[in-house]
Amino acid sequence: MTTTPHLDLIDELEAGELSVEFEGAEPQELLAWALERFSPRIAISTAFQVDGVALIDMAYELDPAVEVFSVDTGRLPQETFELIEELRGRYPGLRLTLLAPEARQLERMTARHGPNLFTAAVEKRLLCCNVRKVQPLTRHLAGLDAWITGLRRDQWASRTDIRKVEIDHDHGAIVKLNPLAEWTEEEVWDYVRERGVPTHPLYERGYGSIGCAPCTRAVAPGEPARAGRWWWEVDAPKECGIHCAIETGGFEHELHAILGDGGEARG
Ligand code: ADX
Ligand code: SF4
Repeated sequence: MTTTPHLDLIDELEAGELSVEFEGAEPQELLAWALERFSPRIAISTAFQVDGVALIDMAYELDPAVEVFSVDTGRLPQETFELIEELRGRYPGLRLTLLAPEARQLERMTARHGPNLFTAAVEKRLLCCNVRKVQPLTRHLAGLDAWITGLRRDQWASRTDIRKVEIDHDHGAIVKLNPLAEWTEEEVWDYVRERGVPTHPLYERGYGSIGCAPCTRAVAPGEPARAGRWWWEVDAPKECGIHCAIETGGFEHELHAILGDGGEARG
């Protein structure tokens, strides 16, 4: 991947105008525009949930050479890898990159806090999410001008205001595109069923939102999908930090020590 800075980025004003323009439009319209405008410095980020596979299907239809990436945190359920293999069969030549956390950072983190630090305190959970997920993602985004996410407004209170085209100030002011923002969970499911897109096997076991194996569980009927993420936490953000900078004053010091930078944390 080239890291040459691109001069065709958009500003807040244009992002706002584009959001208005694409409101009410089908996700594919925004995808087509974005691929045209930003290729090859654009990629889809996916955690292989239903939104992610819908986006892969839509984008591959538009351009089979589209880049897709996912952070393999090292704690993903086996079923996620089964789905990845299925997708590789369904979309020949799919350009999928699995990003890994940095080994040194993982070693420092687990040496200090043990491998299952996330159950000890919210700060330690955020530290684990930062090292395993936010850091690899942030490093990857540094080589892009735009990234595409599966965020939807109906997912959680922290997401009700997302726009379809945003400037991502947490990641170098690149463009963040949320083509599914307007869709409901049901609309995404209708799309993947109609198209016969493979979906994550854990949905059939009652999961509503899927992340790392130890931090995700099935939800009861009627419970919000994200209630199964970090379910033991009370009054916590139910975010990992890739979609909002989380500053708690609780884990940053530890993070600097683990990153070995002694100062600025990225992400
Ligand atoms: S999270 O912040 O709680 O983990 P969520 O699982 O809802 O996010 O996913 C929302 C969007 O974030 C996904 O559609 C995808 O664009 C991005 N995302 C989440 N996890 C990953 C991951 N492991 N790798 C790449 N992108 C991800
Ligand atoms: Fe660590 Fe859990 Fe976050 Fe995965 S979801 S990175 S295991 S805290």
